[in-house]
Amino acid sequence: MLRKLYVTRKLPETIFNQLTKHFTVRYWDSEDIPVPRDVLIREIQHIDALYCLITDTIDDELLCYATNLKVISTLSVGFNHIDIESATNRGIVVTHTPGILTDTTADLTFALLMATARRIPEASETLRKQQWKSWSIFNLTGMDIHHATIGIVGFGEIGQAVAKRASGFDMNILYYSRSRKLEAEQTLGATYVTLNELLQSADYVVILTPYSKSTHNLIGEKELALMKNHAILINTARGGIVNEQALYEALKKGTIYAAGLDVYEQEPVSINHPLLTLPNIVTLPHIGSSTIATRLAMCQLAAQNTIEAFTDTPKNVVIL
Ligand code: DGY
Repeated sequence: MLRKLYVTRKLPETIFNQLTKHFTVRYWDSEDIPVPRDVLIREIQHIDALYCLITDTIDDELLCYATNLKVISTLSVGFNHIDIESATNRGIVVTHTPGILTDTTADLTFALLMATARRIPEASETLRKQQWKSWSIFNLTGMDIHHATIGIVGFGEIGQAVAKRASGFDMNILYYSRSRKLEAEQTLGATYVTLNELLQSADYVVILTPYSKSTHNLIGEKELALMKNHAILINTARGGIVNEQALYEALKKGTIYAAGLDVYEQEPVSINHPLLTLPNIVTLPHIGSSTIATRLAMCQLAAQNTIEAFTDTPKNVVIL
């Protein structure tokens, strides 16, 4: 008899068909609406494997119902939506999709940095609203990127891929991370500094650290106050790393120049969120890894991880 799998979103047919060779698959039949909690509670009681997304909260309360569950495979590199400790204590393996989204997410991070620095959405909007009267000297002036200092908070694969892009722009690269990355320092010409030094020196502060209890509100009022008045904050990691109220105040008062955000404490962010009322912010709907090729590769790797958990030694296991 085939093992039972529940998938919390509708997957591309080819991926779904692969899974059906190994599992009896039930799934939440929607491409864009997350599975309701009560449905997930009901489904998790009967399954051996769960294929989930970052929109599913897999906490201890839910895992209490998961008496047969052996593997949780998340379609993401981030795993802060899963209580890893609770899963591990219950003997459940958690897998994720590292590596394949590194360059795509680094591209988006750099695109957001550029869009924020050069006010690209605002400039485009100005034209569409017929507010472009003439070429004028200080029309929509922004900040230079080339030869500026970038400070990358979190120097894992994505942080280093952003540094690689920054070096093409002749930027001075600083980083802060839990551990020194000596090889990357050599190859990328990056300098390790403390968080405070980074905040004080960088023209661009780019958040790329994983979200955990220890990085919750890592950037708050005190940290924003250390940044230069013309500095720009970019966050493509997780919303909870930056205190949104403190960021709102800093942007409003002009303590910092602007921010580019792809991630929020609550997603989807409310249209009434105070941050969205500010002119000096560029906002995106969590699309860091969103290219056709990368999202397909993520779907495929998450499927492979699910299958391998029963047939082989799974390669992409989350280890805390
Ligand atoms: C991840 O993978 O963790 C991203 O946030 C979604 O691609």
